[in-house]
Amino acid sequence: MKVFVTGVAGQLGHDVMNELAERGYEGIGSDIKETFSGVFEGTAVEKMPYVQMDITDAGSVRNVLASVKPDAVVHCAAWTAVDLAEDEDKQDTVYAVNAAGTRNIAEVCREIDCKMVYLSTDYVFDGTGTEPWKPDCKDYSPLNVYGKTKLEGEQAVSGLLEKYFIVRIAWVFGKNGRNFIRTMLDLGKKHDRLTVVNDQIGTPTYTFDLARLLVDMIETEKYGYYHATNEGGYISWYDFAVEVFRQAAEMGHPEYDAEHLEIVSVTTKEYGDSKAARPFNSRLDKSKLQENGFELLPDWRDAVRRYLNVLKL
Ligand SMILES: NC(=O)c1ccc[n+]([C@@H]2O[C@H](COP(=O)([O-])OP(=O)(O)OC[C@H]3O[C@@H](n4cnc5c(N)ncnc54)[C@H](OP(=O)(O)O)[C@@H]3O)[C@@H](O)[C@H]2O)c1
Repeated sequence: MKVFVTGVAGQLGHDVMNELAERGYEGIGSDIKETFSGVFEGTAVEKMPYVQMDITDAGSVRNVLASVKPDAVVHCAAWTAVDLAEDEDKQDTVYAVNAAGTRNIAEVCREIDCKMVYLSTDYVFDGTGTEPWKPDCKDYSPLNVYGKTKLEGEQAVSGLLEKYFIVRIAWVFGKNGRNFIRTMLDLGKKHDRLTVVNDQIGTPTYTFDLARLLVDMIETEKYGYYHATNEGGYISWYDFAVEVFRQAAEMGHPEYDAEHLEIVSVTTKEYGDSKAARPFNSRLDKSKLQENGFELLPDWRDAVRRYLNVLKL
């Protein structure tokens, strides 16, 4: 199987490439920079074929994909800076990348008849209530610009293609990029008290674990909408932070233990305004994965432990 992966300089694309290599598939990576610009730690992705491609450039997307002729495209590239996306002067670019860029890829996938995986987000929903969102629920109501543009990306994919997987994920962390865990560890070193919100509920997704599932998916024809995060129950960002610091302290870092660092649980309202509104209920129902015979991701606590080891904390 020949697989083209966008966004390999980011968290998920990086791990998808390594998973493809591990399983003996031909992976071709791409991102916006001229050469591969992820972490260099001696993993397969650094030596695998790389093509520069700006997904907002329809001509370039057509040329590249039509000449590579992949069996599947795993589309991980996106504008992911959620708060910055609210700035008036950034919104055209966010739209161009997440909505029009995704459409550019879907159009060529249709022409060359290849499978497409599109990564989307819990932010397509407004987060009301406490029921987990089902993957085939159509009650979309994104609260922010990022969510709106990702939803338009979904609609381009499902409108143009039959052989697609739209996989919504949330609270992503991976080796190759910035994320909540890294931010917490940095802040925890500099402060003796941190406030973290307790009323936004969801589950984290470790890109290393998700990459395995995405490659499992493209080996099948079980197309459609899916939700995929790590297992282990729904939690708040506060719960997530507490567990990260607990494990970090246990790994021999006393600066993160309860004696040195106080983690204060606050509501979103108490925390104060952020530019982008975020959903309170990000519970994603993942039962469709099992119904279709896909192996679930491991418990998020186990993922945190492996991630902290990878970071060589
Ligand atoms: N991160 C999360 O918490 C989260 C949550 C839910 C869903 N998702 C979705 O999951 C997917 C993977 O996320 P991630 O965290 O791995 O993303 P990421 O680390 O931000 O990586 C995205 C990559 O896409 C590249 N990119 C941006 N504009 C591009 C363009 N015009 N052409 C080509 N490449 C471009 C970025 O390059 P630059 O860095 O140079 O811009 C970056 O290398 C995305 O679709 C995202 O929307 C993420």
